[in-house]
Amino acid sequence: MLKDKILKLKRDKNAVILGHCYQNIEIDEVADYVGDSLYLSQMAAKTNADIIIFAGVYFMAQTAKIISPNKRVFLPNMQSGCLMADMINLEQLRDFKSQNKNVPVVCYINSTAEVKSECDICCTSSNALKIVKSLNVPEVLFCPDTYLGKWVEAQMENVKVTTYPGFCPTHMRIKPEDIISSREKYPNAKVLTHPECHKEVCKISDFVGSTSQIMDYAKKSNEKTFIIATEKGVVDRLKRDCPDKEFILIKENIVCPNMKHNTLEDIYNVLENETNEIFVDEAISKKALGCINKMLEVCK
Ligand code: 13P
Ligand code: SF4
Repeated sequence: MLKDKILKLKRDKNAVILGHCYQNIEIDEVADYVGDSLYLSQMAAKTNADIIIFAGVYFMAQTAKIISPNKRVFLPNMQSGCLMADMINLEQLRDFKSQNKNVPVVCYINSTAEVKSECDICCTSSNALKIVKSLNVPEVLFCPDTYLGKWVEAQMENVKVTTYPGFCPTHMRIKPEDIISSREKYPNAKVLTHPECHKEVCKISDFVGSTSQIMDYAKKSNEKTFIIATEKGVVDRLKRDCPDKEFILIKENIVCPNMKHNTLEDIYNVLENETNEIFVDEAISKKALGCINKMLEVCK
């Protein structure tokens, strides 16, 4: 069986498999750690494995390589990009910074190594608010996700968050009308939303958090019915883990196509043939590591 072959190769090569919770659910059968982007980057920093297979999207594997430059990092399928991360390049970042001089720049982990290398501190969806607060300044620049930045700003009283106009096309499909109609259909349900959603969607939700935070909230809650406003992988896992509760995906087909490229077959192939290895330019990597490490320090 493919699964057994992967588990054997993993042991033989001292490899660890990290899986994001938007992955195809069968990936969990071989993954050592499954969670959100903060948890997985913390695991990439801690692991004693020689090889990291990152079942997620490119920026996640690239971040793992930056954090653990002496380990070999592989992405199962090279088509797994992130459309939001690709919305800002170095030139666009420099232009954004030049219009707002002397203001610290916070960059969402959904960004390239080059972009991270010229930002002050990194954040993920689970710690963005904590990171911005840790800077203790009246104004920050935030890239590339305008909606995460605006959600952070809405949680604080006296901090201006100037955002770059990037967004996630998958989360953008979720509209306030979808929340309103789901509430009509399931009046007792709690609405749990990812902060990449539009700010009007976040505003009318019961809880806003990262993928892992949404899963933790639903698992610990005494409520029985939840409307989930994020990628379908979260609903699939919640249904598996909490069969006594009801989980409704906010609307049909909220799927990140890039996250779904990785298959068990791809994982087997990269483990066996050691293809799709991630490399990062050393100078860029060192600068990007400074940005990532500042975040990991705040979230120890
Ligand atoms: P998390 O930080 O919740 O893992 O989200 C990453 C992501 O890409 C969401 O679209
Ligand atoms: Fe990127 Fe959106 Fe996919 Fe997350 S869901 S990986 S932000 S494209």
